[in-house]
Amino acid sequence: MNKKTIRDVDVRGRKVLVRVDFNVPLEDGRVADDTRIRAALPTIQYLLDHGAAVILMSHLGRPKGQPNPKYSLRPVAEHLSALLGKPVKFSPEPVGPQAEALARDLKPGEVLLLENTRFHPGERKNDPEFARQLAALAGPDGIFVNDAFGSAHRAHASVVGVAQYLPAVAGFLMEKELDFLGRLLTAPERPFVAILGGAKISDKIGVIRSLLQKADKLLIGGGMANTFLKAQGYEVGDSLVEEDALEEAKALLAEGQDKLVLPVDAVIADRFAADAERKVVPVDRVPQGWRILDIGPETVARFKEELQSAKTVFWNGPMGVFEFPAFAEGTFAIARALAELEGAVTVIGGGDSVAAVKQAGVADKITHISTGGGASLEFVEGKELPGVAVLADK
Ligand code: 3PG
Repeated sequence: MNKKTIRDVDVRGRKVLVRVDFNVPLEDGRVADDTRIRAALPTIQYLLDHGAAVILMSHLGRPKGQPNPKYSLRPVAEHLSALLGKPVKFSPEPVGPQAEALARDLKPGEVLLLENTRFHPGERKNDPEFARQLAALAGPDGIFVNDAFGSAHRAHASVVGVAQYLPAVAGFLMEKELDFLGRLLTAPERPFVAILGGAKISDKIGVIRSLLQKADKLLIGGGMANTFLKAQGYEVGDSLVEEDALEEAKALLAEGQDKLVLPVDAVIADRFAADAERKVVPVDRVPQGWRILDIGPETVARFKEELQSAKTVFWNGPMGVFEFPAFAEGTFAIARALAELEGAVTVIGGGDSVAAVKQAGVADKITHISTGGGASLEFVEGKELPGVAVLADK
């Protein structure tokens, strides 16, 4: 990675303002999944061990620029405190007199978490005044560390704006994400097989194009495969199809002739429900009134064949409606196939596929599970992420 990290700056005795992505699910006022919090611990611990006072900031959910208790980061402060085994101070506002007093009094080795940055209208607008107030919390000798890979595609004040006022470097999570995802684009060990799923093509056209360039094979499952199948002339019954994207799908099929691998069979349902009637059919035999909800066993076998020799694998998006157990097998089979690969680098790009590998019980067998959903896709698409662009070059 060509960006400076916290190893390249002297943090001792300084206040370090760290953007983390603590956008985690809450249930009954508690953190329901702390993966993203744990992922930030190496950076936080390093800064504490090296004598810094650590001021953390994050968003949570999508509050509309004003305080909303539903999206408070207070439960995250408690959870982080348990993980670190030390108190975490909490400012009930991202900026303002209370945040200023708490930040001013913060000592080396102490941690302060600011309330949700999206409680302020300036966050999403990347308002320079809000960014200046955040940066000022770190004082004249402060440093900005971006460890929020999951938010790096957002040009917001706490991600981008603060870098106007403070020296800006990457944290360890950011470094790790950029290394693993960057290698996919620059120097993947080959064969490089990518797997894309999820509902829509229209969300992922840029990613498909990029992967058709970079990967040796691109396996397509999930709802988006239906649009490709329709573009090939198959009737897909009542399956979800993006009519508006059919022309684009045809163009991609032409571009990706020798690389794209589409389903050959499907698990179909007579309605969209967990207890729907279910059948396995070839893709040219989907009756009217039925819909594709998963890839079929022959497709799984075909995909596994492609994966067998792979040295690099990137996967984003489920192969079917895996929330319904009757239509989860395709997704879980792919998760297990990745886990069984020996000597391959396997990278999972955020979102639903992360939930799938966790549910399949194989998360610890995956080389790298990105903490970014949208961010990892934009990165793989080849876009420069604004939260990375502002970091100092080595
Ligand atoms: C995410 O969960 O992908 C990030 O935290 C970004 O959240 P956002 O899509 O609300 O900006």
